[in-house]
Amino acid sequence: MKIVAVSGAAGNIGYNVLGRLADGYVYGDEPIELRLLEVPQAVQALDGVIMELVDHASPRIANIVATDDPEVAFDGAHAALLIGSAPRKDGMTRGDLLEVNAGIFSTQGRVLGQVAHPDCKVVVTGNPANTNALVAAHHAEKEGFNPANITALTRLDHNRLIGQVAQRARVSAGDIAQVAVWGNHSNTQFPDLTFATVGGTPALDVIDRDTWLDTIVPTVATRGGAVIQARGGSSVVSAASATLDHLRDWEQGTDGRWVSMAVPTQALPEEARYGVPAGVVYSYPVTIENGTYTVVPQLELDDLQRERITASANELLDERSTAAGKGHLD
Ligand code: LMR
Repeated sequence: MKIVAVSGAAGNIGYNVLGRLADGYVYGDEPIELRLLEVPQAVQALDGVIMELVDHASPRIANIVATDDPEVAFDGAHAALLIGSAPRKDGMTRGDLLEVNAGIFSTQGRVLGQVAHPDCKVVVTGNPANTNALVAAHHAEKEGFNPANITALTRLDHNRLIGQVAQRARVSAGDIAQVAVWGNHSNTQFPDLTFATVGGTPALDVIDRDTWLDTIVPTVATRGGAVIQARGGSSVVSAASATLDHLRDWEQGTDGRWVSMAVPTQALPEEARYGVPAGVVYSYPVTIENGTYTVVPQLELDDLQRERITASANELLDERSTAAGKGHLD
């Protein structure tokens, strides 16, 4: 049986994640115990979520625990989806959320380090996801937890990039391979088509370079804001789906496919960092086997890629300084 903790379980993304977990999207037929973590004000809404999970009558749900205590939620957890955080509103950057959300992640990182299963796979979806994960990893590591297991969500950007290419090339998303998202889950990210293929043909033979750089890159990088403006609220279905894709592939492997995930650079060998300094949580193309991710090795990068990779790393260094300045990395 797997124990899966979900923070923000009564929030929109959490609510969307739970039904698909119950349907076996990540663990197939293996039973799961759900640990639903919420802030005290949302405990009543959580009651409703539990009623719905009971009514779902999934044979895969062995037990449901609802709590506002991270120690209860994370005790022995094999996976933790850290979704709960204040969401971005129109006009805010994700970095603006650092102050509000970093405190939550220092506590959760510490408690994960103290009580979670030593191999617990942690996915941070709450924004600013990369730096929240950095804060969590810092506090978990102080408790002896492996920081490599604390990752942040850029699969949403990866999926968005695939979606943009699929629409333009009029192919199925399944025909597209080897896209990569580098950097921060923010406007500085670099959605990279240099190595991508569409039905086996180089993507940049199908989509011209100017369309990629002038249209697709900004569309993907600012998609979260566009959804907020159009919907009046941040992405839910795509964010929930990407969170589950991230965990499913980490658990089940990618069979050589590239996926993007943001990982603590201090846990990577230097050659796998592609010039990004140690001490940030940075998105790379990775492959996954037996529960372990590996940054795609030995990619030849041109000047444009290096420049974009460095720009996003610099933004993460700034976010790290802000988090450190507020005492979240002590
Ligand atoms: C997204 O990319 O949709 C989420 O990170 C929400 C946001 O604030 O953009």
